[in-house]
Amino acid sequence: MSNWTPNSWRKKTVIQVPQYPDIKALEKAEARLASFPPLVFAGEARDLKASLAEVANGNAFLLQGGDCAESFAEHGADHIRDFFRAFLQMSLVLTHGSSKPIVKVGRVAGQFAKPRSADFETIDGVELPSYRGDIINAIEFDETSRVPDPNRMLMAYRQSAATLNLLRAFASGGYASLERAHEWTTDFLKDSEAYASYKEVVEKIEDAISFMKAMNITAENTQQLRETKFYTSHEALLLGYEEALTRKDSISDDYYSTSGHMMWIGDRTRQPDGAHVEYFSGIKNPIGIKCGPSLSEEDLLKLLDKLNPENEAGRITLIARYGSDKIEQHLPSLIEIVKREGQKVVWCSDPMHGNTIKASTGYKTRPFNQIMDEVKSFFRIHKDMGTYAGGVHIEMTGADVTECVGGVSAVTEDDLSNRYHTHCDPRLNASQSLELAFLIAKEMSNTK
Ligand code: PEP
Ligand code: CO
Repeated sequence: MSNWTPNSWRKKTVIQVPQYPDIKALEKAEARLASFPPLVFAGEARDLKASLAEVANGNAFLLQGGDCAESFAEHGADHIRDFFRAFLQMSLVLTHGSSKPIVKVGRVAGQFAKPRSADFETIDGVELPSYRGDIINAIEFDETSRVPDPNRMLMAYRQSAATLNLLRAFASGGYASLERAHEWTTDFLKDSEAYASYKEVVEKIEDAISFMKAMNITAENTQQLRETKFYTSHEALLLGYEEALTRKDSISDDYYSTSGHMMWIGDRTRQPDGAHVEYFSGIKNPIGIKCGPSLSEEDLLKLLDKLNPENEAGRITLIARYGSDKIEQHLPSLIEIVKREGQKVVWCSDPMHGNTIKASTGYKTRPFNQIMDEVKSFFRIHKDMGTYAGGVHIEMTGADVTECVGGVSAVTEDDLSNRYHTHCDPRLNASQSLELAFLIAKEMSNTK
């Protein structure tokens, strides 16, 4: 690693990054970013790595989730609170079902850049550059909006700082206190079946809390009841932005990304000799690698070798995203290789990205049943192979959107147009997220 520097990725082949027309403006924006304060501290990233090492050892479970793409338009306090609340509800169900600590990592406060399968998009015969996330260009389909604008990086940085600030306040300022679990309610959820089961869980937790109160263990005197640890993550795709926020930690003398606690490498940018892997090889944060059907055995070995040469537990999370019909074909051999190499990894399931289809109404959607099926297969395969199914990675929101079809409150293909708000991929709504949490909790207790 001796030749690594925060900008050594620039000597490698880089894909999925925009062509900025004004290089001077780009350099200016990157220089400004480099002068801004870090969003997170190295010590926090180390704490998360230690928690993920617990997951790798089978003693905790990872819940990672949030928007496919954050947007400048959806940045109100309510949006952040609704997301955090849905996330807390899920983790409560998971803690209760598994009796294990849940490591909470949001796809949030930095999840702005998107890889695209095509560089151009054509609508009614008009061809324009693809939308690449609000940190790069605008979603509106007109020529000016689609021009990459480096100043958007500064806006994304400031939005990330504000979002993180509110999330930190929620996590440690009382909102996340277990004594307030009954308040994490949402009006539109009240009639759903998952919510009835959620209420039962809350009642059991309230009983436990009253019992502890009798022993003088209260939220007031016990931090674990009063606060929660919440971490942030995103796909570190836009390397110029990431480089500017890469800082040397004064305690360890190591480099850390300070744009979030955990970064992951997308399925499209994990070429072992490419620029993204080069960048990731030098930062010490915990990192995720998306593993899709095109990942070869040879590449996986190269990636593990390059990204975790010391086989540090908690450093690597392998995020399997095959699709409900392909996981059986691919995951077992991946597990075999990791076992053979003796690598300590966190096994995580992303049941979203391999299950995207086009509805007859033209919307990109994901059938909830297929999402559930992929999660079930993930747990079963790990059980059969004697490995630990350590986490899930999902695209979700706390709002009542209609983006994925199915679930008990049955979103149909015709409903999709009602509240389809995502800037990229379809997300689970609050009710579907809660339903998924119950399924995962069941799978976890089945495989105990
Ligand atoms: C994503 O997580 O939004 C994404 C683009 O995933 P993948 O790299 O797995 O396709
Ligand atoms: Co996505």
